[in-house]
Amino acid sequence: MTTTDDRDTTGLGEIDRGAAPVDADDKRMINARSDVNQLLPLKYHWAWEKYLAGCANHWMPTEVAMQADIALWRRPDGLTDDERLLLVRNLGFFATAESLVANNIVLAVYRHLTNPECRQYLLRQSFEEAVHTHTFQYVCESLGLDEGELFNAYRRVPSITDKDAWALRHTRALSDPDFRTGTTEADQAFLRDLVAFYVVFEGMWFYTGFAQILALGRRNKMVGVAEQYQYILRDESIHLNFGIDCINQIKIENPHLWTAAFVDEIRVMLQEAYELEVAYARDTMPRGMLGLTAESCAQYLRFVTDRRAEQIGLAPLFGEAENPFPWMSEAMDLRKEKNFFETRVTEYRTGGSLEWD
Ligand SMILES: [Fe+2]
Ligand SMILES: [Fe+2]
Repeated sequence: MTTTDDRDTTGLGEIDRGAAPVDADDKRMINARSDVNQLLPLKYHWAWEKYLAGCANHWMPTEVAMQADIALWRRPDGLTDDERLLLVRNLGFFATAESLVANNIVLAVYRHLTNPECRQYLLRQSFEEAVHTHTFQYVCESLGLDEGELFNAYRRVPSITDKDAWALRHTRALSDPDFRTGTTEADQAFLRDLVAFYVVFEGMWFYTGFAQILALGRRNKMVGVAEQYQYILRDESIHLNFGIDCINQIKIENPHLWTAAFVDEIRVMLQEAYELEVAYARDTMPRGMLGLTAESCAQYLRFVTDRRAEQIGLAPLFGEAENPFPWMSEAMDLRKEKNFFETRVTEYRTGGSLEWD
């Protein structure tokens, strides 16, 4: 590839014949000068650990029984109209959100993240996003939902369109063939994309979406879908924390990017994301149900947003001290999450043995 200097940030350049092995100290998150094709020696052990954790959590949607959900969904009095609206709007957001996140990894982030252990994690995450999209195909098929309504919701429901359009412009900017990191402006654009997808999309919007479906599950409704969401939540909590680690590591290596003006910009992004989600919450639950209201979802989001801000070193936006959904709080904390999912994690075994006959 052609760059303004001799960096090969893609790994696609000419092979430097006879060159010495990579020195871990030379590895960088962005704009690395070291060979991006050499995984070892590791520098960012947190990225490798997350890759291993993702593999250990392997699951497939088709392994979750859906009979109870199908029976409930078909029974005319099985769910209220409000619960049906919530479910369809929620599924409608996630059905394409997973594809937008996957596109962002593959078309925007991967090329510019110049570290092989992070790329290894991105490859794992990409597969998990495919599994998540598969989940919505499986739920759609199981319940006999209208495919067009579900997968086209992001073009038909304005509050979903608004969220997706807000995030998509970041993917678009980075996937421009002329986009190169290496300037303050471009590197800040890369950080903005990480914030838009890892902090906002996966770290804020997904969490209110999880809360809505888990609230159904807690009342013994749509327990199969709720179980699928628990698996997705477990994956997403690692995605989110990977993104946070990336942002913080880039910040450490490139302190000049993290200006007061840039911090203000990030705060505006989080505020916009909050407002978009509040509009969506009103759309998905015009009336309160299941112990949830649009306002309690907004409060939960304020609580989550403050936590995300803190994770990337920003002061809280809202000072929201109370989590209205304490039952979600353990799932937000990766260290506690192992306990939360302990039965699942230990009971789960991947694959079967190979047979050669
Ligand atoms: Fe996902
Ligand atoms: Fe994700």
